[in-house]
Amino acid sequence: MSDVEKRLAALSAAGLRRQLRTVDAVSVSSNDYLDLSVDASVRSALIAALTEGAPIGSTGSRLLSGQHPRFTAIEERFAAWQGAEASLLYATGFAANQGLLGTVLRPGHVVVSDALNHASLIDAVRLTKAERRVVPHLDLAAYDRAIEAGRPTVVVVESVYSMDGTLAPLQQLAALCQARGARLVVDEAHATGLYGPTGAGRIEAQRVRDQVFASVHTAGKALGVSGAFVVGSAALMQLQLHDARAFVFSTAPPPFLTAGLHAALDRIRDHAELRARPVALAERLRAALAGRADVRGAGSPIVPVVVGTPEAAGALSSGLLERGWDARAIRPPTVPVGTSRVRLVMRAGLTEAQVDTLAAHILELL
Ligand SMILES: Cc1ncc(COP(=O)(O)O)c(C=O)c1O
Repeated sequence: MSDVEKRLAALSAAGLRRQLRTVDAVSVSSNDYLDLSVDASVRSALIAALTEGAPIGSTGSRLLSGQHPRFTAIEERFAAWQGAEASLLYATGFAANQGLLGTVLRPGHVVVSDALNHASLIDAVRLTKAERRVVPHLDLAAYDRAIEAGRPTVVVVESVYSMDGTLAPLQQLAALCQARGARLVVDEAHATGLYGPTGAGRIEAQRVRDQVFASVHTAGKALGVSGAFVVGSAALMQLQLHDARAFVFSTAPPPFLTAGLHAALDRIRDHAELRARPVALAERLRAALAGRADVRGAGSPIVPVVVGTPEAAGALSSGLLERGWDARAIRPPTVPVGTSRVRLVMRAGLTEAQVDTLAAHILELL
């Protein structure tokens, strides 16, 4: 057996072996919160852009042949929506976090990073020479202790935690950062399109835009397309053209995708009722399971049902699949040992009746 095969065998023995699979079932696991990945107006906008001759591929980095007026237009619109000076479009959220943090964090800086931050944030921090201080999940006293007076400090959080559905107390974090002279960076991957008066995210909902140094907004989740915007000052966007290696040394996304992004933003702008549904449906599901299952994520569209072992999570996911649901098990190392779970995600397109049936099926299986 080669070392590669041995490692796979060990993963299989631990019940942690992963498979790439598509299943024919109702999805309660995708991040397509507003069902915009299958929206007719988004599709038509993309087809129209291609028909009008928008390039398919960008042909290079934005600093070389890859620049296109379509990028500038969507970046201006996105920044205006977010109430910020400027934005910069990356091909993925993973790259956006690397580009942003790679630009901001310098040797000698301190970075205070929440223990449950997404892998893309963790890796982005690790690639820098800043001193990393990982703090317990949303423990504000620990954040306070980790911020060091007299040293440039950046605090990095998600506004909605993707595996737990917890909401960061952005007003308190912003106040803390302001009081201690630290910069606040917020990953809004699971909030953009869902929260706030115009759906801009939890920064908008909590009215802290002016206290946030930079934010990241993925376009492959509620926006239904792909890519991600870094939002902040015009100077910060300019500096990324120099220091964000994930931006500089990577082919720009396909220019025609921006047409889909515009259409998705139109849908979000015009349909407040759509934006409110994922969280409302998640509250309904949580209420139905309350007291009978370890459910988390109040106030978010994510409903993690924590069952403990990888086997138990796998069994719940399989049982749900037999009943017509695509609900995925999340196991270590994605979540801590002992907290394997089935992570349910509510989409605007699900009906209340479907959510009630899903709750009944979960209770049947627990
Ligand atoms: C909090 C968070 N940040 C960043 C990302 C990465 O975004 P993308 O999937 O566009 O690379 C994700 C999801 O994948 C995420 O959940």
